[in-house]
Amino acid sequence: MRERTEPGAGAKYHARAMRPVRHVMSVVGARPNFMKTAPVIAALRRHAPPIRHTLVHTGQHYDDSMSAIFLEELGVGAPDHLLNVGSGTHAVQTARVMERIEPILAAERPDLLLVPGDVNSTVAAALVAAKLGIPVGHIEAGLRSFDRTMPEEINRLLTDQLSSLLFIHSPEARLNLLREGCDDQRIHDVGNTMIDTLVAMRPRIRALDVPATRGLERGDYLVVTLHRPALVDGPLLDRAVAALDSIAAGMRVVFPIHPRTAQEMQRRGLSFSNPRIELLEPLGYLEFVSLLEGSAAALTDSGGIQEETTYLGIPCFTLRDNTERPVTCDLGTNVLLGLAPERILDVPAMLPGLRSRPATVPPGWDGAAGPRLVAALESGVPECAGPAGLAATIAPPRPWAAAPEQRLNTA
Ligand code: UD1
Repeated sequence: MRERTEPGAGAKYHARAMRPVRHVMSVVGARPNFMKTAPVIAALRRHAPPIRHTLVHTGQHYDDSMSAIFLEELGVGAPDHLLNVGSGTHAVQTARVMERIEPILAAERPDLLLVPGDVNSTVAAALVAAKLGIPVGHIEAGLRSFDRTMPEEINRLLTDQLSSLLFIHSPEARLNLLREGCDDQRIHDVGNTMIDTLVAMRPRIRALDVPATRGLERGDYLVVTLHRPALVDGPLLDRAVAALDSIAAGMRVVFPIHPRTAQEMQRRGLSFSNPRIELLEPLGYLEFVSLLEGSAAALTDSGGIQEETTYLGIPCFTLRDNTERPVTCDLGTNVLLGLAPERILDVPAMLPGLRSRPATVPPGWDGAAGPRLVAALESGVPECAGPAGLAATIAPPRPWAAAPEQRLNTA
């Protein structure tokens, strides 16, 4: 059942003027952003009457294998604005996006700025737009790991607070947002836009047949991706490399390696000794999903792969203590191993049990989330003129407000 907050004082004292959406600007920056935004761009292009769309690429990811290849494969095309922010500390990267996007937003003044996911580019762009009085829409809102040591968790919390429209893809996202005081009227359950990309690209993914072209037997290998700072920026990486070397004795391992992980392995003087571990450069989207689809299972610390494996029905072992995507464990194929590289040794023994566990695809992960998101724009976005405009989209707290749990009355 859908949970609602009562219409609070915000509804009574803050009339919500709605602005029609004729121009949408999207911001992408890092690898997973492209798959989340492409279906929305496609749905905007098909909309009648036409909605103008402008694409900004921050350049947070800049190698062709991390960026250009995704835009090409997904048919998004070249961005209208490229900010070339590149790598840096979190503050430097975030600040560069803010500085470089401000004049673009000020000149173009879109009716809505769409930002996906939880990367530094997401929060940076949302912050600038909100201060310019440009409404923000957040794709994949409301996900929470409840772990503030993750940079992505900070980015998610702030982006949701700054957004006028919160596009969610799982039921817990609504609860998380309501607990943080977000007005229910801002939340739209549109489903999972990243799964739209997978559905749309499935025929091309199948035709590629990467396992066959790489001499891999279907169902016979483990796909590994590891890139989170908590795992790869320190001694846990040494232990993960040793554990992978050990399980490769009984199971072939294919590891498309993220540049951060490759650099860190080099810095720490690490290498694999088992020749049954195949190290690859980061793959394009189509190649990667084809590799995943033919695998026995995935071992990962990525967020998106937890979702893709759930959709594909491939067992997923997540090397983290928490997940902001609990629906992939409750309904899907995901198992949290913990941030404990030694648990990698348990993967071969756990695999048969996980294969026979019933798993389903969550509702709204069906290939039609992009069109639903664009349909949600038809009633317009809450007007947000001037630097203080965001206040008009957020209900002010009532002095007698009950504890958040008490406000979650089911209707
Ligand atoms: C970023 C996101 C993370 C996402 C991941 C997907 C943040 C805080 N993190 O992490 O949520 O899951 O992208 O890949 O936004 N590098 C290259 N080439 C590139 C890009 C990066 O060599 O094209 C190297 C650079 O040395 C850089 C490092 O990788 O310093 C990390 O890149 P960065 O964008 O800072 O974060 P990611 O680890 O990729």
